[in-house]
Amino acid sequence: VRTVRVIGIGAGDPEQITVQAIRELNAVDVFFVPVKRSDDGELARLRRDICERYIEHDRYRIVEMPDPPRRRSQDTAAQRAAVAEWRERRIEQWERHLRDELPDGGTGAFLAWGDPSLYDGTLTVLDAILARGNVEFAYTVVPGVSSVHALTARHRTTLNRVGGAVQITTGRRLRDGMPDGVDDLVVMLDGDCSFRHIDDPDVEIFWGAYLGTEDEILIAGRLGDVAGEIERVRAEARERKGWIMDTYLLRRPA
Ligand SMILES: C[S@@+](CC[C@H](N)C(=O)[O-])C[C@H]1O[C@@H](n2cnc3c(N)ncnc32)[C@H](O)[C@@H]1O
Repeated sequence: VRTVRVIGIGAGDPEQITVQAIRELNAVDVFFVPVKRSDDGELARLRRDICERYIEHDRYRIVEMPDPPRRRSQDTAAQRAAVAEWRERRIEQWERHLRDELPDGGTGAFLAWGDPSLYDGTLTVLDAILARGNVEFAYTVVPGVSSVHALTARHRTTLNRVGGAVQITTGRRLRDGMPDGVDDLVVMLDGDCSFRHIDDPDVEIFWGAYLGTEDEILIAGRLGDVAGEIERVRAEARERKGWIMDTYLLRRPA
């Protein structure tokens, strides 16, 4: 039987990796590394760096899997169909690689950015492959430090207030403003500075880009004071590097 490990590797700082993850990395024969055009292959490079840094032998192989092309559309139905098609292609690609590159009895791994449970498709794709029944394997999951926790640590703030709830959402969902009844909100996957849609200038923002890397940028304050600055700094950084990853916590005043 093939074994697959899904290993959380932290969100950018190679030192934010657990002892358990390092032990599991050392037991892997084949690493499957998806390569995305959107980040210029930089996250794939960081994954390779993690292998070189922590694996104490050279008996492992890295198999790169170029992200299948994805059609973009302004039309919602067409966009949904394009995403479904892209997901299907990714399932087929990973299934083919698991079958052809991982021998029976071997151990394969996927290195999940941050923590594998948070806006990461790895577990969903593996479950879909298992459901198709063409390749058999058993898989386990090792947690990692998410970008959310990298963010709160760098801003030296808590995620929740005493006894309070926290919601984690996407930029797209923020376009209608902060959801009712939510006072502490983490926003990820936001290509569009969606905090612009919040009309309360007293909401606090704790913003972080490229957390844990040498390009890290942190800004915090009232939206009324810092929203414009974040938009400007984000645009400049994106222009300079060609891509950006940012996360933020929004907090309504007490
Ligand atoms: C596909 S999700 C993956 C999240 C990841 N599983 C985690 O636990 O952080 C990608 C989003 O995570 C956030 N992110 C990941 N790494 C980051 C970093 N180093 N700095 C800031 N945001 C990051 C961004 O919001 C980005 O759009």
